[in-house]
Amino acid sequence: DWTMEAVVETQVEQIRERVGDRHVICALSGGVDSAVAAALVSRAIGDQLHCVLVDHGLMRQGEVEQVERDFVAATGADLRVIDASETFLGHLRGVTDPEQKRKIIGREFIRVFEQAERDVLAEVAESGRTVGFLVQGTLYPDVVESGGGEGAANIKSHHNVGGLPEDLAFELIEPLRALFKDEVRKVGIELGLPEELVWRQPFPGPGLALRIIGEITPERLEILRAADAIVRDELTQAGLDRQIWQCPVVLLGDVRSVGVQGDGRTYGHPVVLRPVTSEDAMTADWARLPYDVLARISNRITNEVREINRVTLDITSKPPGTIEWE
Ligand code: XMP
Repeated sequence: DWTMEAVVETQVEQIRERVGDRHVICALSGGVDSAVAAALVSRAIGDQLHCVLVDHGLMRQGEVEQVERDFVAATGADLRVIDASETFLGHLRGVTDPEQKRKIIGREFIRVFEQAERDVLAEVAESGRTVGFLVQGTLYPDVVESGGGEGAANIKSHHNVGGLPEDLAFELIEPLRALFKDEVRKVGIELGLPEELVWRQPFPGPGLALRIIGEITPERLEILRAADAIVRDELTQAGLDRQIWQCPVVLLGDVRSVGVQGDGRTYGHPVVLRPVTSEDAMTADWARLPYDVLARISNRITNEVREINRVTLDITSKPPGTIEWE
């Protein structure tokens, strides 16, 4: 794709010039945007880039491992994964309000990330260099929806924009700021990232915390991870990954309903499937998934995830419903 090739070339050149011999830190979220932004910067400045992935314990099944493996294989970048799940889950105990969840996760993220930053700073200082920049995978729609654009209202406090410490001594590098998601994916492919990573569905920074309605507990996370993995697997099998923008799976943690599974009455949790089509997440329509795919998903979830006895489908467009339930 010649357009994206040009984007890469221009960005690489600009980043090199701006950064010089200084070093750069990047927070990887496990998502496409930060991975592509980091890969782009890595292409420009190689081992002057230091990536940090804060594992908040709210990622999907296999996600951290995939980034550790595939991202590093494709870019050769320096990546440190920090397992902070116990800290995050501890602070989230008993919390049910969505904005409160976001605040806590944002705050803890900053704390953990700043520690990682200090570690990188110390290492770099040993070689007589300084760290001058922070990479962010901000896209054009993020800029608009977080109120950075003209006349846009702040709908949810997305923490990948403006959520980082304000007293940062670093300048921001935001190489994707003018791009939409489909363009970011093309840039990712251009940079040699694997399709699996590039075509991964958008996933919110606060992760599964926004997809458990009610309190977040390790048990609920495990249930949701299992259901989510089945949904992603079936959508991939059905070749639907590129038609669907996202399919959040939402666990109604505080709702129970009666079911009959095996030869007994159960009193389990419902999950909601939220498949949507969209161009940029600002508006969305519910995806008309084929009935046989829905049937397979429903059968597999209720057979394989003991605690779930009901699978429901969200058929609301955005607006009025947002994509995530929280
Ligand atoms: P909503 O739910 O507002 O989501 O329709 C629009 C897009 O943004 C993602 N999203 C988030 N991303 N931090 C993020 O980094 C957040 O707090 C957050 N909330 C929603 C959502 O997955 C969708 O792609």
